[in-house]
Amino acid sequence: MIANADPKANLAACAEEVRAAIARVLDSGRYILGPEVAAFEREFGEWLGAPSCLTVANGTDAVELALRAVGVRAGDGVVLPANTVSATIAAVVAAGGVPVFCDVDPVTMNLAPAKLRELLRSPRGAAVRAIVPVHLYGHPCAMPELVALATELGLLVVEDCAQAHGASVGSRKVGTWGHAAAFSFYPTKNLAALGDGGAVVTHDPEVAARVQALRQYGWQERYVSTGDGGRNSRLDEIQAAVLRVRLRHLDAENSRRRALAALYAGELAGTGLVLPPEAAGAVVPVFHQYVVRTPGRERLRLWLEARGIVAQALYPMPLHRQPAFARWAPAEAGELAECERCCAVVLSLPVHPALTSEDVRTVAAAVQEWVASGRR
Ligand SMILES: Cc1ncc(COP(=O)(O)O)c(C=O)c1O
Repeated sequence: MIANADPKANLAACAEEVRAAIARVLDSGRYILGPEVAAFEREFGEWLGAPSCLTVANGTDAVELALRAVGVRAGDGVVLPANTVSATIAAVVAAGGVPVFCDVDPVTMNLAPAKLRELLRSPRGAAVRAIVPVHLYGHPCAMPELVALATELGLLVVEDCAQAHGASVGSRKVGTWGHAAAFSFYPTKNLAALGDGGAVVTHDPEVAARVQALRQYGWQERYVSTGDGGRNSRLDEIQAAVLRVRLRHLDAENSRRRALAALYAGELAGTGLVLPPEAAGAVVPVFHQYVVRTPGRERLRLWLEARGIVAQALYPMPLHRQPAFARWAPAEAGELAECERCCAVVLSLPVHPALTSEDVRTVAAAVQEWVASGRR
């Protein structure tokens, strides 16, 4: 079987280092927010180019606490795309924000600056205080344009980098463009823990201090809660120690993902499928997913499944169509036309650093056979 994502296979490359790191924590007697967490926060912040990094319990908390720390308050409008995973909107709602959906660019499938400008000028944009660009599938959003627009209109920017550790625009990695940014270390992510984990990064020391308090009962000093009392959203020492090991492999693993994506691009050219955007000029993606688009995606998924290849539709239903979030759907049909189109046709082919080039050729050959079979 060729899996879409394979946390165990990816771990194999550094399994001995990881075992040693876990053993070190077991022997240390410190299991929550200790020296491993502090070291990982320093190392991940340095790797990103972000002065402050605060780990939290998962990526959803990271988005929520980042929004709260930059100053989003109950009732503030928060812009996000409708073709992201539900975690993004769950975090917006948990922070007290009112979701405002914006359509995406047909090529990148990320927030479209021109559509955002239009939205912000419309009545739907009136209460907007913040935007959440989601670097979906590991492809960076148009950050120079989005940040310029946000600056012009005085909006807060919280990047959702859960799928994009290491993606960059020019010399700046995603996560360093906004007022704050959120990462997830869920086991299938490019930078993966062996359980849940997340982080908020920021260049603003006040935002960092607020996240630090929010993640542990509102404590700025021990046993004295401030603000609204915060909550418990901490990373444990074992996850931090594992993440430190895996961070050392991340650049090589992201390069491997890009190489596999280039291989797919060569093999699938001429199939008629819409292929994901590649690295172009200043834009460097990290291919958390390799997403092709075809109206026959369910037929292709089943065709691949019958050949032992796992492909997944991520994400099949736009947020504004889901029962939990439909109340925030825009009144005008068609405002989210591109989000709807993407959700109807996307299919993630296997891509992860433990795949061989032969695996990718096998997948691509199966796709080519499907195209040739006329079952599209
Ligand atoms: C874009 C995006 N945002 C947020 C999250 C939430 O991360 P977590 O699952 O660690 O809470 C995820 C993870 O699935 C994600 O892909």
